[in-house]
Amino acid sequence: MRIRLLFILMTICAGGAAGAADLHRITLPPPTVSLKEGAGVYVVRRYCSICHSLDYITTQPKFPKAKWQTEVAKMIKVYGAPIPEESAKVISDYIAAYYGTGS
Ligand code: HEC
Repeated sequence: MRIRLLFILMTICAGGAAGAADLHRITLPPPTVSLKEGAGVYVVRRYCSICHSLDYITTQPKFPKAKWQTEVAKMIKVYGAPIPEESAKVISDYIAAYYGTGS
């Protein structure tokens, strides 16, 4: 009985070790975009790079603020971006100021 228990324990441990060896490591490419420094840039970096590159911001045409507000709202409502309301405002203000028409 004791031997069987030991065998079971060894099997579990061996399985665990094999599982760890199966881990895959990936190296992501370095970020290709560095956003212009300015009020709110940290909030934009934090939330807008969760799902895709920040290129999505810098390669857009210069849109007015209302368009950026709609865009940020779309990321939240349609794609489920976990962005609090206050941060959404900071983000659209920042993008409109630095990559849009300002107002
Ligand atoms: C929850 C995931 C997610 C987050 C977080 C996110 N996006 Fe997106 N975004 C998407 C998806 C999905 C698409 C559309 C698919 C694609 O084109 O790759 C997209 C596309 C875009 C586009 C291209 C135009 C369009 O509407 O398709 C822009 C611009 C954009 N996002 C800006 C932002 C900004 C600004 C933020 C930060 C507020 C943000 N995204 C955060 C998921 C996200």
